[in-house]
Amino acid sequence: MIKRLIKKEIIRQKKVINLIPSENYVSKNVLAALGSPLTNKYAEGRSHRRYYFGNEVVDRLEDEVKRLVYEVFKISPKKYGVNVQSYSGSIANLASYVGSVGIGGRILAMSLEHGGHLTHGHDVSMTGKLFKFKHYGVGRDGLIDYNEVARSACDFKPQLIVCGATAYPRKLDFKKFRKIANSVGALLMADISHIAGLVVVRVHPSPFSYADIITTTTQKTLRGPRGAIIISKLQVSGDRGQVINLTDQIDKTVFPGLQGGPQMHTIAAIGVCLEEALRPNFKKYAKQIVANAKELATELKRLGFKIITGGTDNHLMLMDVTPLGLTGKQAGERLERAGIIVNKNMIPYDTRKPWDPSGIRLGTPAVTTQCMKEKEMVKIARKIKKILLK
Ligand SMILES: Cc1ncc(COP(=O)(O)O)c(C=O)c1O
Repeated sequence: MIKRLIKKEIIRQKKVINLIPSENYVSKNVLAALGSPLTNKYAEGRSHRRYYFGNEVVDRLEDEVKRLVYEVFKISPKKYGVNVQSYSGSIANLASYVGSVGIGGRILAMSLEHGGHLTHGHDVSMTGKLFKFKHYGVGRDGLIDYNEVARSACDFKPQLIVCGATAYPRKLDFKKFRKIANSVGALLMADISHIAGLVVVRVHPSPFSYADIITTTTQKTLRGPRGAIIISKLQVSGDRGQVINLTDQIDKTVFPGLQGGPQMHTIAAIGVCLEEALRPNFKKYAKQIVANAKELATELKRLGFKIITGGTDNHLMLMDVTPLGLTGKQAGERLERAGIIVNKNMIPYDTRKPWDPSGIRLGTPAVTTQCMKEKEMVKIARKIKKILLK
C-alpha cells in the first residue's frame, strides 16, 4: 500500500505546476543519499565526540558537510561555527533562541501576519510561549519600515532581533538590521530559509557580514533534503562584556537539549546539495528563479491581478485575491483542481484569518528546476487568469 501511495505521489508531482515557494525537486543524488544505509547509524553527539561507536565514516561525513557549508557560503571557520544536525528549520530556530538568549529571553521578529514564520514567536508556536516576543511588520505599501523596527527595538530592548521571512517578496537590508541591533545592544539572527540558494550566488545580498546567527532550511531554494543548517559566531560579547561562544551554546541546545541522534542520511543529503550548489550551473539556476518570479509577477500584474508591493525581488510573490470575489482558500482550491499548486497566505493588514486568508503565495524554485523560463511564466500567468476569472 505505502509503495503504491509513493508511486501515486511521484505521478502527482510530475503532473502539476508547483508554485509553492518552499518546495522544490531534489536531484537523484540527493534522493539516493536520503535513501542510503546511513539511516541505520546512530551517532549521538558531535563529530569525534559521540556516545556510540562505529563512527569512522560518519565523523568524516559530518566534517565534510560542515566544510562544504563554509565553502558554499564563503565564510571562515575562524569566525563561524556550523551545526548541520537540526532535524528541521523549526528546531534550528528554537535552538538558536535558547542557545543565544535562553528561555524567557526578549526577541524582536517579524509577525506571521506580515510575512514572518510561525517560529518567529507566533502564539501557537512553542517559540511564542517560551520567549518574550515583540513583532514588527510592514507598512501599508507591504515593505518593511526600518524606522518602525528601530522604534520597536528602542521601546522593547530585545536581546535578539530576527530578520528573515517566509512571505516577504523584497530584499532584506541586513545592514540596516545590524545598525538597529547595535543601537540596542542586541544580537542579530538572519533566518534565510527561503532565500539561502539566492544568497549562495549573491542574487540576494548576504547576511554574513552582519548577522551573529544565520539559520536556514535546506529544502527550499537550496534544493536539498528537509533539514537545516545553523551558522553562528564563535565569539560574541555578552551584556556584561563577557565573551560568549554562541556556537557552543547552540550546539548543546540542539543535542542533547532538543534532539537525540542526528539523521546521518539527511546530513549526507545536505552535503550532496551543497556540492551541487558549488557547480557553475547552480548560479544559472538561482538567477533564473528570480528572473522567472519577476516575469510571473509582471505578467500577473499586467493581467490585472493585485500583487503585494507590486512585484518581487526574490523567488516569491503574494497576490490579493479578494478583488476577484474569492478568498485565498477558494482561489487555491480552484487552482489545484486545474493542476496549479499554490498555498493560501495572509496578506499584510489582512482582515481574514490564516485558515482562509485573503491571499495566495506563489513562487518559482520548483518550476525553475523543471527548466521553465520566462516564456512559461507568461503562459502560467495566463492560465491562472483563466482559472480564477471564470
Ligand atoms: C523562514 C522560515 N523559517 C523556518 C521554517 C521552518 O522550517 P521547517 O518546516 O523545516 O521546520 C520555515 C519553513 O517554511 C521558514 O519559511
